[in-house]
Amino acid sequence: MFTSTVLTILLACATSTAGDNSRPQSPIVLEKSGGLQIGGKIITSNFSFPGLPPGPTQELSCDHGYMEYFIPWRPRKTSIVMWHSSSTQVWQNRWDGGEGYKDMYLRRNYPVYLWDGPRVGRANWGCVPTVYVPSYMDHSNFVAWNFGPSYKNWWPDVQFPTKDDAAWHQATSARYVEYDTAENVQLHSDAAAVAADSGKVGKDIVYLTNSAGGLRAMMTATKSNTTNIKGIVTYESIGYVFPDNVNVTAGRGGFGPFVVPLEDFKKLARLTAVQFVWGDHRAENFTSVIESRMVAKLINQYGGNAQVLKLGDDSGLKGSTHIPFADLDNAKVAGLLDDFLERHGLDEYVDDDGDENKDGDVGNMMHGH
Ligand SMILES: *[C@@H]1O[C@H](CO)[C@@H](O)[C@H](O)[C@H]1NC(C)=O
Ligand SMILES: *[C@@H]1O[C@H](CO)[C@@H](O)[C@H](O)[C@H]1NC(C)=O
Ligand SMILES: *[C@@H]1O[C@H](CO)[C@@H](O)[C@H](O)[C@H]1NC(C)=O
Ligand SMILES: *[C@@H]1O[C@H](CO)[C@@H](O)[C@H](O)[C@H]1NC(C)=O
Repeated sequence: MFTSTVLTILLACATSTAGDNSRPQSPIVLEKSGGLQIGGKIITSNFSFPGLPPGPTQELSCDHGYMEYFIPWRPRKTSIVMWHSSSTQVWQNRWDGGEGYKDMYLRRNYPVYLWDGPRVGRANWGCVPTVYVPSYMDHSNFVAWNFGPSYKNWWPDVQFPTKDDAAWHQATSARYVEYDTAENVQLHSDAAAVAADSGKVGKDIVYLTNSAGGLRAMMTATKSNTTNIKGIVTYESIGYVFPDNVNVTAGRGGFGPFVVPLEDFKKLARLTAVQFVWGDHRAENFTSVIESRMVAKLINQYGGNAQVLKLGDDSGLKGSTHIPFADLDNAKVAGLLDDFLERHGLDEYVDDDGDENKDGDVGNMMHGH
C-alpha cells in the first residue's frame, strides 16, 4: 500500500509536468532490449518444368510475428505486451511528442513488449503476396480514431492538440497496412499464442490492445495452452469472441463476432482479469460497446473477472479518442491502468521478498524525484 501511495504521488507529479521540457521523475534503466521473430511457418516450393526431373526444393520462412522487448534492470513480474491494430507508434508517443505508454511503463519497471503480428510492420515477410493500395485514408482515420464526428470537425473537448498540424500529420501518417479479415485474426492469434506459450514473453503476460488488436488478443487467449496470459486490457476493442452455446452467429469479416468452443472460451474466464475500456465519445448503443458488455457478462458467468470501464461515465475523463493512451491526458488513463494492475496483484516485482526491497526501490525513486 505504501508503495502504491508513493507511486501515485510520483505519477501525479509526472502529470503536472507533461508537455513541458522538464525531466521526468525517474530514469528508464534497462537490463537489455532486443527483438525476435516468433511463430510462422516454412513453406516449400519445388521447381519443376514439363519434361524435366524435379528441381531443388526451396524454402521460405514466413508469417511469423515480431516482438521487440525492453527489460528493466529491476523488473516487475508482469510483461506488458502492447498490441496495436494500426502501428506500434501509437504506444511510443503521444501525437504531440509527449510521453507514450512504452516509456511510462518502462519507468514503472514493467517489461514492455511491442508486437507486430504477421504481415504487418516489422513482420511483413508474408507467406502470400501482400499489396498496398494507396487510398485517401486521412478522412476515415480522423473519424475512425474518434477525433471528431467528421473530418477536421474536432469534438470540442477532444484530448488532442487540435491547433498542432504536425501532431495531426504524426497521427494519420503513423499507420501500417492493416488486414482486417477473419483469416488475419486467425493468423495473428496463432503466432501470438505460440509466442505466449513459448515463455519468451515471460510467465505473466498482460496484453494492452487498441481497436482490432483486442479481438486478436482474446482469440490468442482461447488458443493458448499455458497460464502465461494473465490479463487483457482493451482500449476501444472492435470485435469480440463468444462461446458456441449462446446463439451468436459468427461474422465472416475481420471484426467478428468470432465463435469458439465453450471450452476454449472458458480460458478467458481463467485469466486474472479482463477490462474493456471505452472513451466518452462512444455511445452505449455502439455495437462494440454492447458486445463488450455481453462478453464481460459471459466471462463472469464462467467464473472469470471481466469489467467494462467507461472513461467518461466511470472515471470522469472527457474527450478521449479511439486511442486514449496516446491522448493529451494519457497520464490519467495510465493511472487507471495502474489501479487495475495493482488491484489484481499484477504489479509485483520479480525479486519481491518483502517490504524491505519495495521500500528500497521507492527510496531510489524518491531520490530521483
Ligand atoms: C516439395 O517437395 C517436398 C519434398 O519432396 C515436399 O515435402 C513438399 O510438399 C513439396 N512442395 C510442394 C509445394 O509441392
Ligand atoms: C494447443 O494445443 C492444441 C491441441 O493439442 C494444439 O492444436 C494447438 O496448436 C496448441 N496451441 C499452441 C499455441 O501451441
Ligand atoms: C437464435 O438467433 C436467431 C437469429 O437471431 C433466432 O431466429 C432464433 O430464434 C434464436 N434461437 C434461440 C434458441 O434463441
Ligand atoms: C444511439 O442512441 C442515440 C440516442 O441516444 C441515437 O441518436 C442513435 O441513433 C443510436 N444509434 C444506434 C446505432 O442505435
